[in-house]
Amino acid sequence: MTRPATSPEQEVVEARLVEAVVASFDACSDPRLKELMVSLVRHLHAFIRDVRLTEEEWGEAIEFLTRAGHITDDVRQEFILLSDTLGASMQTININNAAYENATEATVFGPFFVEDAPHVELGGDVAFGAPGEPCWVEGTVTDTQGNPLAGARIEVWEADEDGLYDVQYDAGKRSARGHLFSAADGSYRFWGLTPTPYPIPDDGPVGQMLAAVGRSPLRASHLHFMVSHPGTRTLVTHIFPEGDPIGERDSVFGLKQSLVKRFEQQAAGAPTPDGRVVEGTWSRVRFDIVLAPVGA
Ligand SMILES: [Fe+2]
Repeated sequence: MTRPATSPEQEVVEARLVEAVVASFDACSDPRLKELMVSLVRHLHAFIRDVRLTEEEWGEAIEFLTRAGHITDDVRQEFILLSDTLGASMQTININNAAYENATEATVFGPFFVEDAPHVELGGDVAFGAPGEPCWVEGTVTDTQGNPLAGARIEVWEADEDGLYDVQYDAGKRSARGHLFSAADGSYRFWGLTPTPYPIPDDGPVGQMLAAVGRSPLRASHLHFMVSHPGTRTLVTHIFPEGDPIGERDSVFGLKQSLVKRFEQQAAGAPTPDGRVVEGTWSRVRFDIVLAPVGA
């Protein structure tokens, strides 16, 4: 696909410009900033030259970024969607959360976490009235040696059965989210909702980009976790139901096979682990969480 410069003279002109821009950072006193800027310029120019970018295409790119800026505000962040849908968010997570022994893998954080999710006791219900099929979630939190971690803070959040997070209804609404702490033996349990697929916000330029290239905005069904404990690396991850039809086609490339879990469907009337009476069907899943040490 690469189309080279049209003549040796043209090659010299283009290469000379790249070196001039790179040299413009020579006086930068911050070595990391200099490294980032030089590499960015080299890759950007390589892209422009590789595709022989037209002036019309460059203009369209500027216009796209301008629209992404205009739609972005305190609650809508189009640039995160762009980063997510190009896999840049996931690649940054891969680089910064390298696999460590048997530690649970990380995935994308997403835009819907809030700091002040309500506390629930072990076995409590984080749905807070959000519509959806009840789901019993249980497991343990341990270090990579298998030692239980007591008092680990477990934040969970998810979309309701209509594919919406609480804050998408109302910035102050809190449902289908909460936090709890693992018990002395590292165990935890709570009631949530069986995850369902939902689209990322696709009414802006990123949605138009996805449509133009024939991609779906749907995310694979998932339940978000953020788990922290002193002395361990904070884990930001999801679990994904086995058999989800979106699965590997997740619009933000967040699915990792180790995070696919069996959500066992339960018939209406099946006895629940804590004796709760559930009207209709429910599901249950086990997710054992292993935290890597700090600095791993
Ligand atoms: Fe999500």
